[in-house]
Amino acid sequence: MLLIISNPRDDSADMVVSKIEGRGVPVLWWDEADFPERTTVSTEMLGGRCRQTLTHRGVSHDLAKVTAVWHRRPGPPAATSVTDPTQRAYAEETARRLLHGVYDLMPARRWMPARPKDMVRVDDKLLHLRRAAELGFAIPDTVAGNDPGRLVPAWHRAGGRLISKTFDHRPFGVRGEEHHIYTTEVNRRDLAGRHRIRHAPVILQPNLAKAVELRVTVVGERVFTAQIDSQSSRLTRQDWRHYDDPGVAYAPHRLPPAVEERCLRLVASFGLSYGAVDLVLTPDGEYVFLDLNVTGQWAFVELLAGLPISAAIADWLTQTGTP
Ligand SMILES: Nc1ncnc2c1ncn2[C@@H]1O[C@H](COP(=O)(O)OP(=O)(O)O)[C@@H](O)[C@H]1O
Ligand SMILES: [Mg+2]
Repeated sequence: MLLIISNPRDDSADMVVSKIEGRGVPVLWWDEADFPERTTVSTEMLGGRCRQTLTHRGVSHDLAKVTAVWHRRPGPPAATSVTDPTQRAYAEETARRLLHGVYDLMPARRWMPARPKDMVRVDDKLLHLRRAAELGFAIPDTVAGNDPGRLVPAWHRAGGRLISKTFDHRPFGVRGEEHHIYTTEVNRRDLAGRHRIRHAPVILQPNLAKAVELRVTVVGERVFTAQIDSQSSRLTRQDWRHYDDPGVAYAPHRLPPAVEERCLRLVASFGLSYGAVDLVLTPDGEYVFLDLNVTGQWAFVELLAGLPISAAIADWLTQTGTP
């Protein structure tokens, strides 16, 4: 049995499920947000034997039968019927801890991207940059932290062409509205407001000149590279995630074999079976590493660049044996 852990509105997971149908592998699609309210989970260690059961919608599933797990984008455990906020936080933290233990004990050998606890452990931008450099990637000079005194020297070192970006691209709320922080150029005016850095650490790097940007999606041993023509639109020039689909072309890109191999080794070095790597190809033809996204989206790459990623994920999840 294949266990897909994601929210019920996950269209990308649907693309994979439709490719698994007909292969004779039963699929259980489950959302952590249903736990603890609508799902029961039990681990029993009785007489030297361990048995783990997940019961949802009246059906009990023996977790020893799960051969592969795809941890996609679940909602967090939610104890919605516990009204007191402190008690609710306690219930949800207990639920999270139980799930981590349950995942640790499951005998399934194929996890994508990895067991959830390992995903959290390796989701670390500084570690990614250092590992990439160790593997031979070019990386931008980087200053990370909350020391306002480091901004002006970094700006001068970069010849006045410096960007700032955050550690976490997840949206945050401002008066109930969702906001994203994008990569932005630091201009001379911003230097005067440098004291603000103290409250939330940033990442500072020289603003790289770009021929194109690359999104490299690694699935097991396979590599799919899309080239994003981010420089053709004002909207995406600084950060392609402003998305201007009609104005920005996506196309398959052939990486030099050494760079492709480095992407594979980078993802594997963290024990991951999946990873989305962001690279910049400079006008001088240099491939510069920016970022590894452990749960990076891939469906837009499949749709816009025509790369068969969902089929590769379906293959990986339904293969047998240890990866
Ligand atoms: N040093 C840089 N110079 C120019 N553009 C950058 C630089 N760093 C990031 N960007 C742009 O911002 C985007 C997001 O930055 P990235 O490092 O991938 O972080 P994350 O995706 O975690 O927010 C990149 O894909 C790229 O378009
Ligand atoms: Mg990125």
